[in-house]
Parts: sequence; structure tokens; C-alpha cells
Amino acid sequence: MFDEFGFPPGPDLDYAAPILDTFVYCSRAAEGVDGDEVDRMIERSQRRNVERHITGVLVFGSGVFFQWIEGPTAEVEKLIASLHDDPRHYDIVPLDRSVEKRERLYPNWEMELVGADDIRTVLEDALESTKDENNIAALRRILKHLDVGSLDTLGRI
Ligand SMILES: Cc1cc2nc3c(=O)[nH]c(=O)nc-3n(C[C@H](O)[C@H](O)[C@H](O)COP(=O)(O)O)c2cc1C
Repeated sequence: MFDEFGFPPGPDLDYAAPILDTFVYCSRAAEGVDGDEVDRMIERSQRRNVERHITGVLVFGSGVFFQWIEGPTAEVEKLIASLHDDPRHYDIVPLDRSVEKRERLYPNWEMELVGADDIRTVLEDALESTKDENNIAALRRILKHLDVGSLDTLGRI
């Protein structure tokens, strides 16, 4: 039997670095979606994410979302489908998608809500703390997006 990450049980296996699916995107909040609505959404998301082994960060500011989602592929794929059907946001711009053996970048965040001013710091802190080459490459790609334009601009592509 394989576990949820596709690994057979065994004493010498490296469970710290499972196959992890990562999806990073930004989108624009629909009209009427305010801080209170996002707080309620985060509360429900956190409950579901714990059950689905999904962790990550959601940034909300200036009417724009930025989200880093990581977890088992089947669960991440289900969430991506839900996100595309969700009327609370639109203009979803995928920024990064990978399925790799890597450590979680946000192992203790079942979806942390972060203010837009802090997104660069959150990503730079993650870059400093990770030794995983795939994580480093993905974070550099996202930071480059931030350099090219603000999250606001990304949401309008
Ligand atoms: C910006 C944004 C981020 C979201 N993040 C999550 C999340 O991390 N986890 C989650 O379960 N739902 C999240 N949702 C809600 C999902 O889109 C969806 O409503 C939820 O998964 C329930 O889907 P279902 O009714 O198809 O089961 C998010 C919605 C939006 C608009």
C-alpha cells in the first residue's frame, strides 16, 4: 500500500520531502468581496485544507488575490477546479505550477492570510529559509513577477 503521497511504508524512507504539487496564481476580487468576506472564506478554507493536507498563503489587497497552494496532486487539482468556478474572483492568472519532490514551504500554514504589503517579505523569508533548489527556482520566478509590476497590474493581464 502506498500512502497519500505515493510512498510505500518503510523505516528508511524520506517522508520529509514528498511529491508536492504547487499552484501559484493571482486574480481579481469580484465586486462586493471585502475584508469580512475574505475572513469568512479563509476560516472555511483552513478547515478544508487541514483535511486535504493543503498548506499555503493567501494575500489580499487592493482588490487582488495572490495565493500559494501546496499539497498532494489530487487535492490541489480539486481546489484549482473549485477556484475556477468560484464567482468571488475572476481574471485568474497562473504564475507557477509544479509537481516535484520537495519540502513544503509553509508546513504550518493551512492557508495564512497576509496583507499585500507583506507579500514580498513572505516570499523573501521563504527564499532564505529553503534549501530546496526547486523551491528556490519557483520563488525567484514569482519575485521576478513582482519586480515587473505590482500585483494590481498582474491581476489585469
Ligand atoms: C481567492 C480564493 C482563495 C480560496 N482558497 C481556498 C483554499 O485555500 N481552500 C479551499 O478549500 N477553498 C478555497 N477557496 C474556496 C474555493 O474556491 C471553493 O469555494 C471551496 O473549495 C469549496 O468548493 P466546493 O463547494 O466545490 O467544495 C478560495 C476561494 C477564493 C476566491
